[in-house]
Order: sequence, then C-alpha cells, then structure tokens
Amino acid sequence: MKQIISISLGLSDEDYAFDTEFLGQDFNIKRIGTDGDLDKAAQLLLDWDGRAAAIALGSMKFPNAIGPRKIEKHMEQLKRLGRRIKTPVTLGSALRDVAFEWSLRHIEFKFGNYFNNSRVLFLSGLVHYRIAKVMSEFTENLTFADPVIENGIPKFLNSLTELETYAGGAHDVLNWFDSKRFTGAVTPLRAWNEYIVAKAMQKANIIVVPYYGFYDYLENISLEELGGKTVITTTAYDDRVAYLKERGVDIIIDTTPKILERVVGISVLEALILAAVEKQVDDIGDDELLEIISDQRMDPRVIYPSGEQKRVNRFAFVIHPLSQEYFKKVNPIEKISEFTPPVFMDAVEKILAYTPPFVYSKVTGIKSPSGVEAEGWLITVGGTPKEMLAHKPEFTYNRLLQAAKMAKRMGAQIMGLGAFTKVVGDAGATVARKAEIPITTGNSYSASGALWAAADAVRRMGLLKIEKGRKIKGKTMVFGATGAIGSVCCRLLAKAFDEVYLVGRNTAKLLALQESIRRETPGAKVKIGTRGDKYLGDMDVVVTATSGAGKTILDITKVKPGCVITDVARPLDLSPADVAKRPDVLVIESGEIQLPGNPEMKNIGLPPKVVYACLAETIVLALEGRFEQYTVGRKIEWQKVREIYQMGLKHGMKLAAISGINGVFSDEEIARVKQLALEARGQKTREN
Ligand SMILES: NC(=O)c1ccc[n+]([C@@H]2O[C@H](COP(=O)([O-])OP(=O)(O)OC[C@H]3O[C@@H](n4cnc5c(N)ncnc54)[C@H](OP(=O)(O)O)[C@@H]3O)[C@@H](O)[C@H]2O)c1
Repeated sequence: MKQIISISLGLSDEDYAFDTEFLGQDFNIKRIGTDGDLDKAAQLLLDWDGRAAAIALGSMKFPNAIGPRKIEKHMEQLKRLGRRIKTPVTLGSALRDVAFEWSLRHIEFKFGNYFNNSRVLFLSGLVHYRIAKVMSEFTENLTFADPVIENGIPKFLNSLTELETYAGGAHDVLNWFDSKRFTGAVTPLRAWNEYIVAKAMQKANIIVVPYYGFYDYLENISLEELGGKTVITTTAYDDRVAYLKERGVDIIIDTTPKILERVVGISVLEALILAAVEKQVDDIGDDELLEIISDQRMDPRVIYPSGEQKRVNRFAFVIHPLSQEYFKKVNPIEKISEFTPPVFMDAVEKILAYTPPFVYSKVTGIKSPSGVEAEGWLITVGGTPKEMLAHKPEFTYNRLLQAAKMAKRMGAQIMGLGAFTKVVGDAGATVARKAEIPITTGNSYSASGALWAAADAVRRMGLLKIEKGRKIKGKTMVFGATGAIGSVCCRLLAKAFDEVYLVGRNTAKLLALQESIRRETPGAKVKIGTRGDKYLGDMDVVVTATSGAGKTILDITKVKPGCVITDVARPLDLSPADVAKRPDVLVIESGEIQLPGNPEMKNIGLPPKVVYACLAETIVLALEGRFEQYTVGRKIEWQKVREIYQMGLKHGMKLAAISGINGVFSDEEIARVKQLALEARGQKTREN
C-alpha cells in the first residue's frame, strides 16, 4: 500500500486517515494539520521524506494566476525545502489549473448552454484568471472585484482585457489615489466598498470565490447577496457547503473533483496521481493530467444545497403601449390626462415614442415540470403602433437594439419581440442580425396558440362534428392570410378543416400561398380573395391576423351564427362595439398561455399567470435552453409551430381559459352563445 501524506497549515482537529484505491493501486491517505506552525510542517516534510509515496502541502495560498506572482514567505520556504527531498511534494497547482478549465467545459457540455451570457462576478480575477479565460468564451458579462477588494479602489474591472491590464500594473484605476493609505483609515470608504461588492453580488448570477480566504471574502455577506446564486469555488468542504446553504445559494460548483469517498484538497489528489504514475511534479504535464481526469471520470462536483436540482435560465421581452389609453394608466400622466385636450395626449404619445427602453417588470417564479426555472425582464419601448407606423422601421429597430443591449447586460439569454415591435419593417430580421443576443418574434407560438384556442372553442361550442384522425367538416377563413401569423394559420387550418379561404390585399402573394398549401396538403380545398364578405356567412371558423391597427377588417354582421372568430391582431381587428352586435358568435382574443409555476410580474392586462403566446414562446425557449434565433422574419415554418407547441406542453404550458373582449368565457357563457346561434340558425331556415 502506498502512503500519501497531506501536511496542512490548517487545523489539526480536522485530521483524517483512510484507505482507498486509485488507478488499480491501494493507498493510505493521512492528513496532519499543524495549526499554522511552519516549523512543524517543515519537520514533517523531512520526517516523511522517503517514507511517503507523495506529499501534499495543504491550506496554503497559491500565487496569483496572473500579475505579480506574490508568494508568501512561508510557502517559499516550504517549496525550497520540498525541492531538496526525494519524495514528490506538491501544492496541487497543475491539477488545479487543469481542473478549473475542465470543470467549466464539462458543465457547459453536460448541461448545455449553462454559462451562456451569465453575469459572473470574480472576487479575485487574479487568482481565477484561468476560469475567467474559459468563462469569457461563454459570456462577456464578467466583473472583477480585484481593485475593490485588493486595493480598496471603488471600481470594478469589466472585461478580461481590463483584468490583464490591471494585472500588468498599467490599468488607469490604479492611478485613482494611494488607496491603501485611505482604506485602512477612512471608514466611510471601506463601508462604501463593502456596499458596492454586496451590490455586485446581488446583480451577479455566478460568483467565483477563491478557496484561500473563503470566509474572509464572504464575511458580512448574507442571503440578500447570495440567495439563488451559483457559487464556483475549489474544494468545498462540508462546513463551506453548509455556510453557503445557510445563505441561500442554489448551486455550488466545486472545481475539485470528488473521486474519493470524502472531499480532499486538490493537492492530495495531485499527490495521489503523482504516486500512482510514479512521477515528480515537474514531469507531469497538462495533457497527462487531462487524460487521467477524463479516464477516471473526475467530474467537477455540482452541489444543490437545497437537495433539489436547480437551473434558472433568463429571458427578456419587449413590450410597448398599444394606445394612448395605456399612458392614462401611468402616473403622473393619468392625472394630467383627466383634464387635458386630446391634442396634448397626442404630444405625449409622440414624446414617449422617443424615450429610451426601460424595465417595466421583473418576471420570476416560472418553473417547468422538468425542474428548470426561468426569470426575465419585460422591457418597454415607448412607441404606440400609431407612432411606430409613423416612423421609418429604423426608428423602431434602434430602440429594439438598445433594448437588446440592455437585456444582454442584465444577463438575458434570449429576447422576444412583443406585439407591434415585430410587425414593423422586416419582422425582426434586421434586429436579429444586429443584436448580440438571440431574438425571437414569438410568432410560432402565437400561431399555435390562436389555433389551439380556436380548436378548443370549436370543441366547446359543439356545433361541428370532430372525429379523430379525420378532417373537420367545416369552412374556415383567414384575414391577413399572407402575413407571418396568418399564413401559418392557413397552412395548419388546411390540414385540419375541409376548406380554407385566404383573404389578403395582395393577389400575387395569395396565389403563391395557395400554391404552396396545395403542394403541402394535397387535396386541400384552398380558395383566395381580396374581400371576404361574399363567403363570410358560410364560415365556421374565422381567424383575423392583420396589422390593420384598428381599421375595419371584417363585417361581423355577415358572420354565420355560431361561428368562432379568433382575433389574433393587436390592436384587435374587432372593436368591442362590433363584438356586442353578435351575441350568437364566439369572438376569442387568440390563445393566451398559462405559465407553469407561480409566475409573478406587473400587470400586462391579462389574468395572473397568463401571458401572450409570443411572450410564452420566449419563455419556452428559455426553459428549453434553446438560445437561438427561433422565429424571425415573415416566413414562419409550420414545423416550428408544431415544435414549440410540443415544447410548451413539455414545460407545463397550458391554454389559458379562452377569453373574449369581456374576459374569460365560462361554460355557461359558451352554452348561451351556442343557444343563441341555434336559435338564429333556426330562424334563418324558417325564413328561407
Ligand atoms: N396575440 C398575440 O400574441 C400576437 C402575437 C404576435 C402578433 N400579434 C398580432 O398579429 C397581427 C399580425 O402579425 P404578423 O406578425 O403576422 O404581421 P404581418 O406579417 O405584418 O402581417 C399582417 C397582415 O395584415 C395585412 N394587413 C395589414 N393592414 C391591413 C388592412 N388595413 N387590411 C387588411 N389587411 C391588412 C397585411 O397584408 P399585406 O400583405 O397586404 O400587407 C399582412 O398580410 C398583428 O396585429 C400583431 O400585432 C399578436
């Protein structure tokens, strides 16, 4: 049996000894703590020379990975002594560096897009330069607290380049003032520095905490700073795990692999490897270590202190006011609008269109049955549809790109475009090309939601015969048929119903759409027209998805009694006055989606937990970790409409109760519409 000795400057009452097997060989590992006694550590080194297969030196501060390699005096002494003895002696530096890199890459690969655009705070970038370098491949949101913590300068570094300049002693922040002199003496400055570090922790998703001085770094840090965070650290002994658990940490990533039954320091693992392959520290390279790490499945440890696996992905979503009515709900404009002429409100609408984007609401508490959570931000741009249409598309693009920048800085991994922001110009294509985070318009799920709601409404009305596996014997019509959402609705309705009638303003586009649907769904009855009036009275289902922004699109008085109309448009294509004319027709406002978990956000004009389908698409993609341009431009793929529907079901999305202009339809209300429809149909038959 080979003997591994760990000589630690740490506490002697944490000593241990146990037998283990590694690379097919038997080992006894024994830790001897010297309670900080350097002479004792030196004596132990000499005592075990020649008797141990390898010696690990523990609880010692590693020199910085970058910048001045300050080595503590005592370490220098021990290292010098270590070089004089025959037995390999190690601090674990080589394995530590390789393990940093390996653990990050392994986690990113295993969990997929794990670090993508995370906000990462390094309490010491100098110590964790190697982690920072790997992390910079996945996110640009890096913050280093070195100037604050190391030098008392109230400034953070915000990129790897800044860290490198700082490490070289050339960064401007170092000229701020003779900080050391100040920090010790001036309490307000120290208090301020503690405050800004605490704030930086609150904003971060991931905090990288050095092993050495772990408790000093986290002194005075509470649940407020660490709650819900991921902490990356090295050798997380039980006491450290308990400390982080008490402070609400969600996930601890320990870069030291746990391959033995108990947690041991990285130097012990390196000593074990050296003894097993019978090499000296300088004879073993990164490649050899990597090979051993991967062969031995020395994976990093991922600890969930609450006992429950956690993953929180992040999204942003852009919203905008639909009309001046919105401003009237916003203080202090609400007060002014009570006694202001409409001209003034026009001016307010114009001015607000120029305001930079801002966060309207944080969204929390979304939890998929798969365990993944999502949180995000609703960012508002000020333009109403009227204002957006009055400007060139570039006006809206610029605001959306500003919003994307903001979203990226906040750590969002995907951004969705709400309502009119994806109607103007090329439906998100330019914004998606220029933005630094993936963009989706949400239109796939909007189309899916609209049809989901229509199908549910048709089923609940019970006026059409629905047989499994067969097309429904009914006629359908789509207004805005050649639009992004409209065209997908046409494609899918052609698969589900006997007949579909496409209404649009552009004949050439209509012909092309008709041709492609016929190719896609052989035998489908597809008719086209620029006006729907003539056949409107025969339709069982109507979808209206135009961007007419409030213009009259269809004459509801001509609709067949019992027809289900899904009004996808925002602003709605049918006014409340129109809807009121036909109590025998079921007008639903497309398919809103109920989110899983206990979502919380400010009012968006829908019942609690319920969101627009386009917002739901952004959330589904976040939950699925699909940080990619999903639906962009006017061509929506119906395969994606199906895919997002399936993904939505997987993540617990439900069709919210179908609602109309006056809110949710109850079964009684639907029964009443049906009753009125049957009466009207009877009357019509009698008249003919
Ligand atoms: N409920 C939701 O969750 C949700 C989600 C996304 C979008 N929306 C809304 O859905 C609607 C359609 O969005 P989209 O992305 O499909 O827009 P789009 O691609 O721009 O399509 C709009 C369609 O409306 C037609 N149109 C425009 N003005 C019209 C008018 N005055 N009369 C008749 N047709 C007119 C256009 O015809 P031409 O081809 O002839 O121009 C086009 O076919 C918008 O109102 C949008 O705000 C709702």
